[in-house]
Amino acid sequence: MIELTAIRKTYRSGTIEFEALRGIDTDIAEGEYVAVIGPSGSGKSTLMNILGCLDNPTEGHYLLAGEDVSQMTETQLAEVRNKRIGFVFQQFNLLASLSAWRNVELPLIYAGVPRADRRARAVRALERVGLGDRVDNRPGELSGGQQQRVAVARALVTEPAMILADEPTGNLDSRSTADVLGLLDELHASGRTIVLITHEHEVAERAQRNLVIADGEITSDVPTARAGVIV
Ligand SMILES: Nc1ncnc2c1ncn2[C@@H]1O[C@H](COP(=O)(O)OP(=O)(O)O)[C@@H](O)[C@H]1O
Ligand SMILES: [Mg+2]
Repeated sequence: MIELTAIRKTYRSGTIEFEALRGIDTDIAEGEYVAVIGPSGSGKSTLMNILGCLDNPTEGHYLLAGEDVSQMTETQLAEVRNKRIGFVFQQFNLLASLSAWRNVELPLIYAGVPRADRRARAVRALERVGLGDRVDNRPGELSGGQQQRVAVARALVTEPAMILADEPTGNLDSRSTADVLGLLDELHASGRTIVLITHEHEVAERAQRNLVIADGEITSDVPTARAGVIV
């Protein structure tokens, strides 16, 4: 599903250049659950932005479902994102003025889903994450764990093939962390490809495979104890 070949990313500000990714080569199969783990500053978010079609690599090729997305324009990338990828971020990124279901509906608006279908699909996604009784609440009326579950509902409402989660439990207590990781397990069990970015080993162990990244390079690629587990 994903093929990365010789991916490099150089940030430039003025005359200063910084190479955040220094030749990433890897494949991720459809339905795999992979954690990218590494310390702060190692290039995890940079890699996530490229995997999520939020940014182009400086060099190299990225094939997503057979399509080379590495040189696409912003408009083309936006379409690929909306069609194929659901995002979950550390900071939830919910709109404070909108109710839970209005937040979840947003990707459907961009995808051109008719108004009449949107509420029903948003409510179903919220039910799936256990928030069927909170659809009309705004983010400020929900706990951190509930807000992250709304964000997961928003990520899955378009039925994307891939869920990308960047430190999704970074702002959560241990109970909400367990909830959100449980949801990712369920999504994986239902056939989604999951890429989870984290700096925590316990979180990375939930995946089937760990890609360890340091200074912009993959330093190891190992199966976890859950590699063979059918969930
Ligand atoms: N927009 C940017 N401009 C310049 N340097 C950046 C930019 N974004 C990230 N970096 C640098 O690239 C490196 C990797 O950053 P990042 O991908 O955010 O790492 P991580 O998510 O693993 O903490 C860091 O040294 C960071 O300072
Ligand atoms: Mg980061």
